[in-house]
Amino acid sequence: MKRAVEEVGRIYGDVGLGQFHFSLTVPVERGDYLAVVDEQHGKVLCQLDDLKRKSDLDLEHAGALQPSEEAHLHESMLGVAQIVGYRDASGVVKIPTIPFRPGAHVYRAEEPLIAEVLGLKHHANTGAYVGLLRNHSLRVELDINQLVQRHVSVLAKTGGGKSYLLGVLIEELLRHRVTCVIIDPHGEYGSLRVPAEKNGSSARFGVEAQGFGKQIQEYSPDVSLNPSATPLTFSLRNSDPRDLLVFMGLSNVKSFLAPLKQLIERVAAANPEYTVHDLVRAAEAGEGAIAETMAERLEYVDQTKLLGPKGTSLNDLVKPGGATLINLRGVAPDVQELVVSRIASTLFDNRKKGKIPPLFLVIEEAHNFAPQQGSATSSRVLKNIASEGRKFGLGLCAVTQRAARIDKSVLSQCNTQLILQVTNPLDLKAIAQSIEGLTPGMTEMIQSLPVGVALVTGGGYHTPLFCEVRPRATRHGGESVQIVAS
Ligand SMILES: Nc1ncnc2c1ncn2[C@@H]1O[C@H](COP(=O)(O)OP(=O)(O)O)[C@@H](O)[C@H]1O
Ligand SMILES: [Mg+2]
Repeated sequence: MKRAVEEVGRIYGDVGLGQFHFSLTVPVERGDYLAVVDEQHGKVLCQLDDLKRKSDLDLEHAGALQPSEEAHLHESMLGVAQIVGYRDASGVVKIPTIPFRPGAHVYRAEEPLIAEVLGLKHHANTGAYVGLLRNHSLRVELDINQLVQRHVSVLAKTGGGKSYLLGVLIEELLRHRVTCVIIDPHGEYGSLRVPAEKNGSSARFGVEAQGFGKQIQEYSPDVSLNPSATPLTFSLRNSDPRDLLVFMGLSNVKSFLAPLKQLIERVAAANPEYTVHDLVRAAEAGEGAIAETMAERLEYVDQTKLLGPKGTSLNDLVKPGGATLINLRGVAPDVQELVVSRIASTLFDNRKKGKIPPLFLVIEEAHNFAPQQGSATSSRVLKNIASEGRKFGLGLCAVTQRAARIDKSVLSQCNTQLILQVTNPLDLKAIAQSIEGLTPGMTEMIQSLPVGVALVTGGGYHTPLFCEVRPRATRHGGESVQIVAS
């Protein structure tokens, strides 16, 4: 359906180069696109950033009203619009250098103008289709090369829709045969194998249910809890005694380090092909409380089967054109950090050597693996990947509900941000500081975004835009647990 050009108001007062005020005569939502015809450049795209209801009722008169008395007043709506720009003959987006004329008409922007100025593409070869521009039927596609080369962050409060959106993104990457490794602390992403059930809004978004079972493999350090996964193991002889202490659950007890080192040296001298079981027996043969604890904890490590003679090979772990899930459900936090650190380091080293294809490394709960305060075993390598990964085709995707708690240097290196609802003031502050081009109106809007609407910055777009996330083609694995049956 083609809408006639709709006038929504007139510009008034002092007019600036970036912003203007206008009278609003029809309802327009904050964030909606507007157009003003500029004498020199034709139609210029603008966006409603704020709305105010003005009246001539002042404090004194309002205070003097009786409880039952109606207020008699004149009121009008005023809009504050941000100028987005026009595309010039060479395809560059520019903002007019002369302010609009007061009295100029303000129209609702038509879709062709919006698509042209924002640079929205339909079915681009390198496009990841994440949803529709809010209140429109224009596709928002993120440029996959930009995503992988320039890193991504997904930010929202718990329940804001991060995992859902990430699922959408991974579906798109799998369609384009981009290799992904996903750190999945809650075991949510296995459902990418399963086609979604019918969804009422799928038709509007043009999404068909599809499973990606053939492209997905899953590893876990704990296969008794996660039986759909293949065991993830590390090479015992490539493990530092410090790492071993983490696996033993003794990373905080430094007094064990020297005795453990001695134990390993002794066992290795007798048999270079030693196993965890050999370490257990040697510890059992020792005397005293330390030897006893070591024996007990090594026995536990032996049972986890996390440390084997060889460890999972990188060739198995990375599936070119597919996604590898590292399911860490039920794994102790310090072991999780160590697993992330070891996997991220191996991927980075081998990417530098060109032994594996360019890939996208997704870290869910990234504030735990690269915290701003305190330290995690995985912090250093994640910071290195954030600052240098792009040179080597290793893209990082950091997902977190605490933008204020993730390492600032990691957050600031993410050039595409997908932001859903955020209400915590500290997190909002961290987001506002790390993103260019956010208007005060947009920062306010982030606090009240409905589930399923994301603010997208970067990803090939020069200006932030609001996107209604498309329905999943696969089942979403992160459904909230019902405590009481309905
Ligand atoms: N785009 C969306 N469309 C429909 N439902 C959604 C959408 N995003 C999230 N949800 C629903 O909201 C809930 C929370 O989403 P989830 O992605 O698990 O949140 P988070 O990972 O941020 O904690 C889920 O139950 C999911 O079904
Ligand atoms: Mg989640």
